Amino acid sequence: MICLPAAFLVLPALFHDPPRNPPVERERSIETALTVPPRVRDILRRACYDCHSSETRWPWYARMSPIAGRIENDVTRGRAFMNFSEWKTSAGATSARSDATLTAACFAVQSGLMPKSPYPYLHPEARLSRSDIDSFCAWTREQAARQP
Ligand code: HEC
Repeated sequence: MICLPAAFLVLPALFHDPPRNPPVERERSIETALTVPPRVRDILRRACYDCHSSETRWPWYARMSPIAGRIENDVTRGRAFMNFSEWKTSAGATSARSDATLTAACFAVQSGLMPKSPYPYLHPEARLSRSDIDSFCAWTREQAARQP
């Protein structure tokens, strides 16, 4: 039989509130800074935004220890490298840095490094098809080729 007082002690320790997202200002986002066609916007939002933006959709299991720590860690490190919601003040601050970041993003997707495992197993909509990857990389090349 479950000891009720023990359950009261253990359950709150296992479930806690998911982290709060930072405020989002469209002015600073990649969607305002660059021309992002609908197909690319869709790819970014379904495969990258949960870790590389301030618009993370925290899943229910992000409330449970010890998975919560692992997810938060991925989001913190993902945002630190590239935050699409803060594009103008981070990766997109200069056109050289923006181009380098987008070239790395194409490479990461082509090589299957991103979206980071195990995310695509848990989020089938984030699995990118060959044609998704081709469209994404055509767009990153187009951005790198444009005049500053
Ligand atoms: C589950 C979270 C998650 C998702 C989803 C995700 N990333 Fe990442 N990404 C990370 C983390 C964490 C890092 C930091 C390096 C690492 O741990 O691999 C990172 C690093 C990167 C890097 C730097 C490459 C490197 O070797 O460090 C690029 C480029 C990148 N991500 C692009 C993308 C793109 C493009 C998408 C969407 C197609 C995406 N990521 C989706 C978590 C994620």
